[in-house]
Amino acid sequence: MSNEQQIRIYNPSEEAVKRARVSGMDAYRALCKEAEDDYEGYWARHARELLEWKTPFTQVLDESNAPFFKWFGDGKLNVSYNCLDRNVNNGLGDKVALIFEADNGDVTKVTYKDLLSRVSKFANALRGMGVKKGDRVVIYMPMSIEGVVAMQACARIGATHSIVFGGFSAHALRDRIEDAGAVALITSDGQFRGGKALPLKPIADEALGLGGCDCIKNVVVVKRTGGDVKMVEGRDTWFHEAVANQSETCEPEWVESEHPLFVLYTSGSTGKPKGVQHSSGGYLLQAMMSMRYTFDIQPDDVYWCTADIGWVTGHTFIAYGPLACGATEIVFEGVPTFPDAGRFWKMIQDHKVSIFYTAPTAIRSLIKAADNNPSVHPGKYDLSSLRLLGSVGEPINPAAWEWYYEHIGGSRCPIVDTFWQTETGAHMITPMPGATPMVPGSCTLPFPGIQVTVVDETGTEVPWGQGGILVVKRPWPAMIRTVWGDPDRFKKTYYPDDFKGKLYLAGDGAIRDAETGYFTITGRIDDVLNVSGHRMGTMEIESALVAHEQVAEAAVVGRPDDVTGEAIVAFVVLKGPRPTGDEAKAVVKELQTWVGQEIGPIAKPKDIRFGENLPKTRSGKIMRRLLRQLAKGEEITQDTSTLENPAILDQLKG
Ligand code: PRX
Repeated sequence: MSNEQQIRIYNPSEEAVKRARVSGMDAYRALCKEAEDDYEGYWARHARELLEWKTPFTQVLDESNAPFFKWFGDGKLNVSYNCLDRNVNNGLGDKVALIFEADNGDVTKVTYKDLLSRVSKFANALRGMGVKKGDRVVIYMPMSIEGVVAMQACARIGATHSIVFGGFSAHALRDRIEDAGAVALITSDGQFRGGKALPLKPIADEALGLGGCDCIKNVVVVKRTGGDVKMVEGRDTWFHEAVANQSETCEPEWVESEHPLFVLYTSGSTGKPKGVQHSSGGYLLQAMMSMRYTFDIQPDDVYWCTADIGWVTGHTFIAYGPLACGATEIVFEGVPTFPDAGRFWKMIQDHKVSIFYTAPTAIRSLIKAADNNPSVHPGKYDLSSLRLLGSVGEPINPAAWEWYYEHIGGSRCPIVDTFWQTETGAHMITPMPGATPMVPGSCTLPFPGIQVTVVDETGTEVPWGQGGILVVKRPWPAMIRTVWGDPDRFKKTYYPDDFKGKLYLAGDGAIRDAETGYFTITGRIDDVLNVSGHRMGTMEIESALVAHEQVAEAAVVGRPDDVTGEAIVAFVVLKGPRPTGDEAKAVVKELQTWVGQEIGPIAKPKDIRFGENLPKTRSGKIMRRLLRQLAKGEEITQDTSTLENPAILDQLKG
């Protein structure tokens, strides 16, 4: 794209263009123009065509209380009805909805009829426990059929779910339960990952025992590993017992389009994760539109998104989008490296997967594995069923893109590099697989209807070719509605006064190519790290570190990593003397374990360095830019004359 680099452009094949819904760039431009000419009309047309409404809406976008926007405000619908009943009513009852592959390779298929029955039974069970519209239900579960059933069952009765990733610790779970004020917790005895049975219910018990969780009246436990669990009389119920005598039908709760379908916690620039609140109608609409335009989902596709339901990708692209489109999808319990690093490729071969959606970190680690062990090279597998590949969660470096294109896609499948966020609910910038010429490393152009641009600090658009801040100019149906319980934080974070409250601040930097206008995301502009596609707040990790009795002060930064994208580096000042040698090694281990317990293993710093102090300006501000250079092992080029204590730089070199 830039003149200095030789950039290859990959055009979608004639076949990809021919079969696609958005067929060719003229079709893409026509959709964009439709939205530009009549913004509300464009979204309303799709909302009428794609969703089944109990009460049709007459209002489209309500901006009267900006930035608390409302979409399709007077319409009523039910998300689970749209995902299940509608497909069964349309003759898809016997079509396979979920192909569940367990960690050990066992496969279970669930049809739409079967899924509707499972969801209805569990929805009835929840209702029987007194869970009702507007109540919050926390789901702390592994990848499983029951995980999807639990989400859909909440949607069916109008309960707002909040999934907590199964890798989070008791503390993290407790904080989220407390913030959400959840009335019920759905979990499982444990989970299988990489051939091992790991506990979940014991962690949930620990969370509930930490205080602050009195709001929880019921705990439902799925039996998965058969591990030892303690059931608390009057509070805990086995899932299989709860559903045993329930009716297979359950009248859905018809909710307003704006009704909160879910709250999902994500990291921001302060210590406390924020509960991103999503709507029902607008969210489901764009989940379906992403499935239809970006993935061009068709009736005969076998679709596989490898995300976990604990993240937003698992919400939009496992629990809701594919089901609302009547698709057949894979739900995978395990990990890409078990029993070996050929697992993904074998599963694509076995299930004849046609659309595959994963994260760059997974691709990079599997490239490494294939280089080291030819027997797990994708070339050993029949991947001819694939027709479309997707990437999500972090920037994909051109080398990984090209390997993915050649070795997984057989140089035949378009790659959609989809940029979006927990807050956006659905794709924002992405190629259309049968239209957009692809450039490795660029997420290319906005999703039809989405109006994004790059601005400077004052909110003024910068010319193409110049880097700046990524913003969204107009509200979109699947956007975050508020931060749960903290509307001020929502306003300040996403619609800051700097931009007169008119532009949505994504928190990412971006640059548009000078000639094509293609977008490239240049990384977060706030204190958020992206480790293996997971968002981590540096302050969150710092708070965890300073909560340790030996730690006086800590600063956390990111450093580029070949596999995980970014790695966490912590600079720590202990209350006692600065440790060296074996003693330092022991403290590093101790602190890594500590952070694992406080937040979860994904937050463990890869590198911890000790200093007698941190580099600070005379006014006492930590010089993070300098720490980032130290973390990378770079020579310090920055002016250090304002530094109060230059000598400690040597200690922190690592
Ligand atoms: O920094 C961007 C990066 O991931 C952030 C959003 O993280 P999260 O809310 O956890 O959602 C991840 C799944 C949608 C963004 O602010 N990001 C996401 N997708 C891309 C990306 N960076 C570059 N390219 C992408 N395709």
